[in-house]
Amino acid sequence: MATQTEVLTQLMQTAPAYCSGDELAQLFGISRTAIWKTIQSLQGAGYTIESRHGRGYRYVPNNQLSATVIQAALPSKIAPQLVVLPTVDSTNAYLKRLVSQTPLSQPTVVISDTQTAGYGRSGRAFYSPEATGIYLSIGLPMHPQQSFDPGLLTTGTAVAVAKTLTELFEVQVELKWVNDVLVNHHKVVGILSEAVADLEAGQLSTVIVGIGINLMTTDFPKALATKAGAVTAKMDVTRNEVISTLLTEFFTSYQTYTTGDFMADYRRLSMVINQQVELKSGTKTVTGIVKDIDSTGALVVQLPSGQIQRLNSGEITKVNLLTGAYHG
Ligand code: BTN
Repeated sequence: MATQTEVLTQLMQTAPAYCSGDELAQLFGISRTAIWKTIQSLQGAGYTIESRHGRGYRYVPNNQLSATVIQAALPSKIAPQLVVLPTVDSTNAYLKRLVSQTPLSQPTVVISDTQTAGYGRSGRAFYSPEATGIYLSIGLPMHPQQSFDPGLLTTGTAVAVAKTLTELFEVQVELKWVNDVLVNHHKVVGILSEAVADLEAGQLSTVIVGIGINLMTTDFPKALATKAGAVTAKMDVTRNEVISTLLTEFFTSYQTYTTGDFMADYRRLSMVINQQVELKSGTKTVTGIVKDIDSTGALVVQLPSGQIQRLNSGEITKVNLLTGAYHG
């Protein structure tokens, strides 16, 4: 009996052309009635499959998230485990619960249509309405001898997201250190990396990279309305395509991220280099002019005294553009 996945994959490969019921029946060695039943199940599961008398069946991409569709668009060497959920409290929290039960044996990506308790840095909530955004977490198992560089993973992820958005949408993307992604001076993506430790072994067991993208979200809560924005007003690609592209960029970059080979791209996209900023790092507030972002991803700031300070963590709370205007 042909599985739904096999029939769906075949229809995706043939699209936008039709595939006849006869062809499918022959291919999978089952009756046309069995094919028809499989098509009905796929439609029931939310896939759009058009049927036309005399021509057969045709797959039409839609807004529904699907692991099969995402996986089919990934290069063969990128094959993380994919978990797609209709709703969850938080994809980061889901992965944390998962790894507390069983360590990951392979990279695992959890994607949800909506989150009821999505969160960001400093315990802030991440607004995650259904259908208009992408909320996913990438769980990366850490092997005992593996080196982990949080600064470069964070900056590398921001570049992977920026490349995805510029590839698929006609937008100019800017990066606000360390990993806020902006379009039209509004934050459209939030990234939150968290580490899970194996206390008995005294080492990291998993790194979780959470990414939230406001693709078409517009109805932000009041507190966010002036700062947050959407990537686009009109979607010509599906969320599945955005996720496949993002995972391809991410996992390609992840293979060599400790070399920092993407830092030139990061600097080119940075909106803070040569600008005056105010930054909160722990309990300290630092103001100064950003001179560079160094090869480790640290912010290089010239203080009013002329002294140079390197900051590995913190959040830029104000950017007073010495050139142009920033409304965030
Ligand atoms: C920030 O801007 O402070 C980071 C926001 C990170 C949000 C994403 S959405 C997917 C994943 N799940 C979460 O609960 N948070 C991250």
